[in-house]
Amino acid sequence: MLARFRQPIQRTVSHCYPRFFSQQSYHNVEMLKSISLVNIFASLPNFDHILKKLQSHHYFPNQSPVSYDSHQALRQLFPNGDKKLHHSAVTLLTDSTPVVLPSTETVVHPDHLASHFKQLASPINLYIDKLCQVLANTLAERNYEAGLPDSENVSERVHALQAGLVAYRLGLSHVNIAALLLHDISRCTKEDIAHSHRFHHTESSKILSPLGAVKNYTSHHPFAKFLLYEFSEVYRTHLLSPLSQNSLKMQSDSFAASVRRLSIHQNEKLAEALFQLMAMRAIDDFSKVPEHLLQANLTASHYFDNDTIKKLLVHVMVNHLILLNPDEATVSQFRSDLSAAMKILSRVDHLQPEKKQHLGLK
Ligand SMILES: [Fe+2]
Ligand SMILES: [Fe+2]
Repeated sequence: MLARFRQPIQRTVSHCYPRFFSQQSYHNVEMLKSISLVNIFASLPNFDHILKKLQSHHYFPNQSPVSYDSHQALRQLFPNGDKKLHHSAVTLLTDSTPVVLPSTETVVHPDHLASHFKQLASPINLYIDKLCQVLANTLAERNYEAGLPDSENVSERVHALQAGLVAYRLGLSHVNIAALLLHDISRCTKEDIAHSHRFHHTESSKILSPLGAVKNYTSHHPFAKFLLYEFSEVYRTHLLSPLSQNSLKMQSDSFAASVRRLSIHQNEKLAEALFQLMAMRAIDDFSKVPEHLLQANLTASHYFDNDTIKKLLVHVMVNHLILLNPDEATVSQFRSDLSAAMKILSRVDHLQPEKKQHLGLK
């Protein structure tokens, strides 16, 4: 198993194409056709080295090194990952196997909620509808990477749909599929791109708070980028766009908060959490495949449609609420999280009405 993950990767991806997301045509495309999660993980040092380097930045000062490496992480994070972990983003996105997500309904019924939450079924459904509307609004049609030619670009909406689909193809949990699908959601609510570069992780985290652990990836995703930037040469050289590198500098003031929250994990659990963040960040950066590359293989099953997204969110929401204490304080906190999320999502209300077409194929 270990040997399977050890690939002669750097030679195959580094000699032809000097820079991912360079302005030259087809550089980006070639990277997305060739780099796999295994390639990135094979370039990571073991946890001892990672912790030592992080401690030189004064992060995690009280943690002790444990024996843990990227091969263990892949086995733990993707127990059924098999050969798909060797697949590039393009290969994963052109897989035409039908998507099968939880067969729940597209709305939350009060009967599925504990008594204290029953009264909130209606605002919860409005919230789920609003998330879907925002993913389909005009701001979601903007190019994800400003300044790149269309032939090398994707829209915000396609970036989100690809991230959810790659997470699904690699076998991540429903919570983490939803986390990748919605991790940049606040970027689709704000016209000011500079504001989004700086704050979209904190705003998206507030938007996703009612969905529980779904918010975790978005709140940590600048720190996850920092981790891959520090520790994976393959990522640094081939997957990090100049734009993303610039926003990394702007977002560096969020790292301390991420480190503080991640410090609840000890030893192997911390190692696991950091490698999981790096895996999710790699999927995030895989999810920028220009659609002309997929067009020949596009079928209706490729991206999640609106109903599939609603079913996923209903499933994740109901499972999250089952685990919450049904006491007044918890319900009141949930209600206030829901209203804070709706306030940010409602920034799009002045824009032209969302498209009525299904999410997914243009
Ligand atoms: Fe982001
Ligand atoms: Fe992203």
